[in-house]
Amino acid sequence: MHRTLFAALAAVLVLSPVYAQQDSVARGERDFRVCAPCHSLEPDRNMTGPSLAGLWGRKAGSLPSFERYSDALKSSGILWDDRSLDGWLTDPDRMVPDNEMPFNGIKNPQDRADLLAFLKEATKPGAAPQRTAQAPMGGMGGMMGGMMGGGGQVPNLKSLEPNMQVKAITYCHDTYRVTTADDKTRHFWERNLRLKTDSSQDGPQRGAPAIVPAGMMGDRADVIFAAPEEISKMIMSRC
Ligand code: HEC
Repeated sequence: MHRTLFAALAAVLVLSPVYAQQDSVARGERDFRVCAPCHSLEPDRNMTGPSLAGLWGRKAGSLPSFERYSDALKSSGILWDDRSLDGWLTDPDRMVPDNEMPFNGIKNPQDRADLLAFLKEATKPGAAPQRTAQAPMGGMGGMMGGMMGGGGQVPNLKSLEPNMQVKAITYCHDTYRVTTADDKTRHFWERNLRLKTDSSQDGPQRGAPAIVPAGMMGDRADVIFAAPEEISKMIMSRC
């Protein structure tokens, strides 16, 4: 009886480091959801924050394709490795005062270890996940995007369903009326419609702006144009 228990225990002890590591990576992947509205794992795909692809061994604030680094991060002299990343994720403001990452840090050491175990794998060259079709910005993603300054991920806007392709926008008093390619018109209070541009490969075709739901209540949306000069051309003041 004792011997069987012993054997079973021994097996658990031998196998557990492997399983523990896999569990950690899996938990870390879930934890990454708080970072994902701002950070992609694809090389040079920058959002509110820089792409994290190839992070280990990179100098802080040095990704050439990201143009919005704070001076504080650029001049921090940090090299990203297990230790420095653990410090950054514990309390970014303490490690780099005046940095511009709107994130308070993760206080639980196990949560940080999980996240770093996942990130270390997922940021290796060639490890970028398949680009998955992103859900439109409704639901949590949209809300977080809104809360975090509009960094939420958007679906590829090059080929749009008719109900997402904007044909016309009129503006009257405090109201926008947005007509889509399926000939439906929706109205928005002017403070609930955000006008944005996306010139990246994910952005809309020129002349074919997209409307994407934002927030959870269904009363807000983003209209995303290919370039800023399209905005005023598209909007007609008319009652
Ligand atoms: C609301 C947006 C936002 C969230 C959420 C966020 N970040 Fe950031 N992150 C940024 C911005 C912006 C910067 C650039 C900061 C600067 O230049 O001061 C940054 C910088 C970084 C850097 C430095 C990259 C480099 O090239 O030097 C790392 C690493 C990082 N973030 C990891 C994370 C991780 C991991 C999470 C999740 C736990 C996270 N961030 C959550 C916006 C965000």
